[in-house]
Amino acid sequence: MIELLDILRREIRLQGPITLARYMDLSLNHPHHGYYSKQDPLGRAGDFTTAPEISQMFGELIGLWACVVWQQIGQPNPINLVELGPGRGTLMADMLRAASIAPSFREAIAVHLVETSPALRAVQTEALASYKPRWHDNDTTLPAGPLIIVANEFFDALPIRQFERRASLWHERLVGLAEDSQLCFVLSPPQSANPMVPDSHKNAPEGTIVEICLAASNIVTRLANTIGRYGGGALIIDYGHDGGHAGVTFQGVKDHRGHPPLARPGDADLTAYVDFGALSIAANTVYTKTYGPMAQGVFLQKLGIRERAEILMKGADGSLRDEICSALARLTDAKEMGTLFKVMAIGESKMPPPPGFESV
Ligand SMILES: C[S@@+](CC[C@H](N)C(=O)[O-])C[C@H]1O[C@@H](n2cnc3c(N)ncnc32)[C@H](O)[C@@H]1O
Repeated sequence: MIELLDILRREIRLQGPITLARYMDLSLNHPHHGYYSKQDPLGRAGDFTTAPEISQMFGELIGLWACVVWQQIGQPNPINLVELGPGRGTLMADMLRAASIAPSFREAIAVHLVETSPALRAVQTEALASYKPRWHDNDTTLPAGPLIIVANEFFDALPIRQFERRASLWHERLVGLAEDSQLCFVLSPPQSANPMVPDSHKNAPEGTIVEICLAASNIVTRLANTIGRYGGGALIIDYGHDGGHAGVTFQGVKDHRGHPPLARPGDADLTAYVDFGALSIAANTVYTKTYGPMAQGVFLQKLGIRERAEILMKGADGSLRDEICSALARLTDAKEMGTLFKVMAIGESKMPPPPGFESV
């Protein structure tokens, strides 16, 4: 059977070294051999666990966040509720359950899911059947109209490119073949000017590596334009930094551990930290404002996660109480997901700050 590694080798032999973005895209999204195309990678039995899979509290609070944003933009009916990269559909299911405390909001919602993976679409179909979602291969086919968008651990899966500074010139880090035909990093010839590397890195020291995710910026600009035009808001949650960061964050993840990113393409998740600085720039259109990024722990506390945990604990027995306590700690503690994960919002410029960002 032809494997993804053979496909990559053939492409590199024919065309020369490929960009890291091409390598990531084929490894994650190749229609037959891509990591996300083949399987459901989430949960304890998979390779990683995301916030909505840790506790229902996460999705419930985001459902209430969406409800308040809907009220802030004048309660349009219909409102397109969009999730980018919905995984198992858990976040959307928890959001919609929480949204039912406001029946007029619940009734106005049309659910749209942007998902490339056939394996995960099948899981989402089961989880969300009663809400009749519509699927999209990408954000460009979302319908016109007011929308609220959520994306948890979506942007870190988008393909990045890397550039390395050597002798005062930038080279692109590409994926090529070593003498033994294994994949390896190689450098492109020097580029006299590189418009992709931000000005803040122009005089970076020898050996600096900068990561750029054009796909993320392009998606955010399109969504911000739609928000500016029709009204709405977006909430982006991911691990990342505020911008201006140099260094390699590109990594493989398998069995809940780091994995060499060029080993066994298609069998491990590939991710890179999200550059929230770049996303803020991409989202700042004439008709939109951005908020944050703010630490996930602080954001969830502002939305009332402690109070929600206390309510859930009231009716719980000993082991369930422990589970709720440990989920609360995992989602909010600085040593767990509380600080590394960040939250950024986009809103139309005339609306008040969305919940959680009032004093930012
Ligand atoms: C890390 S999972 C996060 C799942 C979910 N948001 C959660 O928090 O549990 C990434 C999700 O994004 C989807 N995905 C990855 N790349 C994508 C792309 N380019 N377009 C659409 N969906 C993508 C994956 O199939 C998966 O559903």
